[in-house]
Amino acid sequence: MTTVDPTNTAPVDPNAVSLTINGKAVSARKGDLIIAAADKSNEFIPRFCYHPRMAPAGMCRQCLVEVEGPRGPMMVVSCMTPVAEGQVVRTETEQVKKAQEGVLELLLANHPLDCPVCDKGGECPLQDQAFSHGPGESRYVEEKRHYEKPIPISDNVFLDRERCILCDRCTRFADEATR
Ligand code: FES
Repeated sequence: MTTVDPTNTAPVDPNAVSLTINGKAVSARKGDLIIAAADKSNEFIPRFCYHPRMAPAGMCRQCLVEVEGPRGPMMVVSCMTPVAEGQVVRTETEQVKKAQEGVLELLLANHPLDCPVCDKGGECPLQDQAFSHGPGESRYVEEKRHYEKPIPISDNVFLDRERCILCDRCTRFADEATR
């Protein structure tokens, strides 16, 4: 039987949401995205297109996680899925790992493997996450695509289509931040 403490007069926050991520109890706010709630509770979900200060786009699919649903676990894009009361989220299951590795293998299929000469070498999220969440090897043996580059998107943003992973961050940044 639950006993109610009559001295507890703290108002109930109607926007508070309680969920679990990898078994850890997490408090979030209504409207928060799963990836943001995970960040706040130090559960890292790999991502490329998500940025907390830009509108989510759900472009790269790197942030797939498992959410318990009425028919069992379902894979969802955590940067587009809001938290919900009682939600059970898992970011480290075999299925999630397989999905994240598959996305990385696809993203790297046409990406040049020129990290030592690339301007972003050493501070590249793609390189970092290929190590931390990638499959370790690629089945892709075909010739990679070659494109004319760079293409100016704005005064400050230039597109390198050989390295582009279609995350939409540069075009969103040009639209939302550098107007
Ligand atoms: S970070 Fe979620 S789809 Fe790209």
